[in-house]
Amino acid sequence: MKLLAGSLVLFLSGLVAVQGQSTFSPARPPALPLAVKSPYLSTWLAAGSDGGDGGYLPGEWSTFWNTAITALTGLIRVDGSLYVWMGAPLPGVSGVTLANQTSYTYTSTNSVFSLDAGPVTVNVTFLSPIYPDDLQRQSLIFSYMNVAVESNDGASHDVQLYTDISAEWISGDRSAIAQWNYGTTGNGVSYHQVFRQTQLEFSEVSDQAEWGNWYWATQKSNALSYQSGTDNDVRTQFKNNGTLADTQDTNYRAINDNYPVFGFASALGSITGSVSTLYTIGLCQQQAVQFLGKNGVQSVPSLWTSYFGSDTDALDFFYGDYSTATSTSSALDAKIASDATAVGGKDLVTVTSLAARQAFGGTELGNTPEQPFLWMKEISSDGNAQTVDVMFPLHPIMLYTNATLLKYLLDPLFINQAAGDYPNQYSMHDLGSKFPNATGHPDGNDEPMPVEECGNMLIMTLAYAQATGDTAYLTQYYDLLKQWAGYLVADSLIPANQVSTDDFAGALANQTNLALKGIIGIGAMGRIANLTGNTADASNYTSTAQSYISQWYDLANAAGANPPHTTLSYGNDTSYSLLYNLYGDTVLKLGLVKQEIYTQQSNFYATVFHNYGVPLDTRHIYTKGDWQMFTASVSGSGSANAKQMLISVLAKWINQTPTNQPYTDLYNTDDGNYPFTPPFANRPVMGGTFAPLVASA
Ligand SMILES: *[C@@H]1O[C@H](CO)[C@@H](O)[C@H](O)[C@H]1NC(C)=O
Ligand SMILES: *[C@@H]1O[C@H](CO)[C@@H](O)[C@H](O)[C@H]1NC(C)=O
Ligand SMILES: *[C@@H]1O[C@H](CO)[C@@H](O)[C@H](O)[C@H]1NC(C)=O
Ligand SMILES: *[C@@H]1O[C@H](CO)[C@@H](O)[C@H](O)[C@H]1NC(C)=O
Ligand SMILES: *[C@@H]1O[C@H](CO)[C@@H](O)[C@H](O)[C@H]1NC(C)=O
Ligand SMILES: *[C@@H]1O[C@H](CO)[C@@H](O)[C@H](O)[C@H]1NC(C)=O
Ligand SMILES: *[C@@H]1O[C@H](CO)[C@@H](O)[C@H](O)[C@H]1NC(C)=O
Ligand SMILES: *[C@@H]1O[C@H](CO)[C@@H](O)[C@H](O)[C@H]1NC(C)=O
Ligand SMILES: *[C@@H]1O[C@H](CO)[C@@H](O)[C@H](O)[C@H]1NC(C)=O
Repeated sequence: MKLLAGSLVLFLSGLVAVQGQSTFSPARPPALPLAVKSPYLSTWLAAGSDGGDGGYLPGEWSTFWNTAITALTGLIRVDGSLYVWMGAPLPGVSGVTLANQTSYTYTSTNSVFSLDAGPVTVNVTFLSPIYPDDLQRQSLIFSYMNVAVESNDGASHDVQLYTDISAEWISGDRSAIAQWNYGTTGNGVSYHQVFRQTQLEFSEVSDQAEWGNWYWATQKSNALSYQSGTDNDVRTQFKNNGTLADTQDTNYRAINDNYPVFGFASALGSITGSVSTLYTIGLCQQQAVQFLGKNGVQSVPSLWTSYFGSDTDALDFFYGDYSTATSTSSALDAKIASDATAVGGKDLVTVTSLAARQAFGGTELGNTPEQPFLWMKEISSDGNAQTVDVMFPLHPIMLYTNATLLKYLLDPLFINQAAGDYPNQYSMHDLGSKFPNATGHPDGNDEPMPVEECGNMLIMTLAYAQATGDTAYLTQYYDLLKQWAGYLVADSLIPANQVSTDDFAGALANQTNLALKGIIGIGAMGRIANLTGNTADASNYTSTAQSYISQWYDLANAAGANPPHTTLSYGNDTSYSLLYNLYGDTVLKLGLVKQEIYTQQSNFYATVFHNYGVPLDTRHIYTKGDWQMFTASVSGSGSANAKQMLISVLAKWINQTPTNQPYTDLYNTDDGNYPFTPPFANRPVMGGTFAPLVASA
């Protein structure tokens, strides 16, 4: 079902109807999150016109974030007739009908589909819970799928439900040999375990993990049957019979060799009222990452292993925890929706709630409850571990949900550099070129982004300490923080030719927005010194920041521009850029930058809008969704109202973009498409959509 949705899709505001069938609420995202929990548990449904069909669960395969198929199949037999409610199984087999999807709704943690399969309604809820305050629950790399079926014509119907997964989940190499097993836990959870026969710990192929065990599970009962085997065999068995054979295929083979699938069938019996069946999908890896910390390179365990003695203990807990998951998630969804509505109306709800699972899904917890680390992958751009200038755009969602998570992100960077494992005077860019190997850069040859990363580290560290009152953390790493501030004193007012975080746009000397980041970093050091009792440093850095910012006013503004605005680089009066680094001044309450700059920029943006937003800078017509939200967070809601314009244009883009991978942060402001391929997709930076919530707190 590959429709040219771009020309067929009809967009209504708020509720989007496609082909007169399904509604999409609050918007039709470029890709619909299904099971999104970590860099490796990240399965979506493509919706944009380029390969997606507009966001329909039946008729196309779900995919890993990078578009490789990770198949999920859903079938239902109603009075002997077969309907497909998920996936694209049994191609060309007669008597197979697609269910009609009537609605899709997303919140921060849920994706809910409603479908009609003849005389029954099937509601499918994908829940990937987020637990910012609960390390034990957040540590589990699992997601739920709940399937509720009820008669829609008042009559009772004889119903059997079928689901399966393929082995495509277990490796990015489709010729890798899969192995599997079937079992039932002590608490009566039946599961298919599927894994790569040759485990390659800490390795990836095409971004998928090559180690660990996958679990596809549901409640054991007399009505449950199971089967593993070749895709068409298992599904045809269900089609013809309504039950599976309770047998295992023991011919372990390549993922793509007569595609083995792992099915469950549930005889729901004769139903009128609603009957629910709960499934879980998850990944258990004993070891999470390799880390160059105090004692050389070490393997760091996944945090869940501190709480659970085995994979199946973890599975049992997660499966049995559904009611806590739904209540905790509903509370988080409601909080985000209500806070976002207050700050930016329903368009900010659209923008933030699409980002929540993606932002947390770029991370996973490791080590021990005494010293947890929150590992982060720079998904899609280059796969670095713990990239500082990816953490920076991500970090507003951490401040918003639980600021302690920011410490867990920063800790590995501090530990590595405090141990003397990095030779440069400025802050490192990332902790390893290829996640999950956070093995550092003892040679100092990481991508140099000196002003950007020094500023980011100072700003994020102070933000954490201000939010939690943990000034001991500032004392612990005072020497490093002061070293980075010293670098900024030397190089931030007149920044040398270098890249900023927007490295794809090229290097440039004297970048106005980059200089601002550095000066705010020095101001942050003034506060850090103050909070740690270092009086002389406090007054030195504070007065240096003040002196620099008053010089910056003269360097930054475009001479004679009407309306006035800052430049992309000093002296280039025809240029401009989003001055998103004002965010640090506001959130840290430094009071460094005069109000006039805020007002001037806000008024200016309103004059340079394209169809889908304000370009990042005058070199290109593309923009960044995350930086637009940082900019919105420091823009006025006065007459020009750039704040609301920036928020609403991103919500419009979500509804209309022809892109079809998870929420890109980089798109063209004219046609809403990717500026280059492979695109930026599924990057944790979209946690930056929470910047307006943090800045208004
Ligand atoms: C889908 O809707 C169409 C139009 O209402 C109807 O004819 C068809 O039977 C429905 N199909 C299913 C599977 O319910
Ligand atoms: C934030 O998370 C930590 C665990 O990482 C927890 O101890 C703390 O209570 C949480 N904060 C709040 C406000 O819930
Ligand atoms: C991580 O390092 C190990 C060697 O320790 C290597 O086998 C693996 O391929 C690396 N992972 C990635 C993603 O490069
Ligand atoms: C259908 O399933 C039942 C129960 O498992 C079994 O007894 C029967 O042989 C099956 N029939 C076919 C045609 O597979
Ligand atoms: C399915 O979803 C629809 C639309 O949200 C709702 O009206 C209905 O009650 C739900 N039915 C079940 C069985 O959950
Ligand atoms: C950067 O700006 C300063 C101050 O205006 C100027 O002296 C210097 O020449 C500029 N550097 C470059 C490379 O343009
Ligand atoms: C920190 O700042 C406050 C308020 O300006 C001031 O009263 C205090 O003396 C400062 N403390 C140090 C150690 O600089
Ligand atoms: C202030 O900081 C600058 C740059 O870090 C340093 O050279 C200078 O000695 C400091 N002055 C005082 C009084 O600490
Ligand atoms: C000023 O900026 C524009 C676009 O950003 C660029 O095309 C132009 O070359 C720049 N001019 C100078 C003198 O650097």
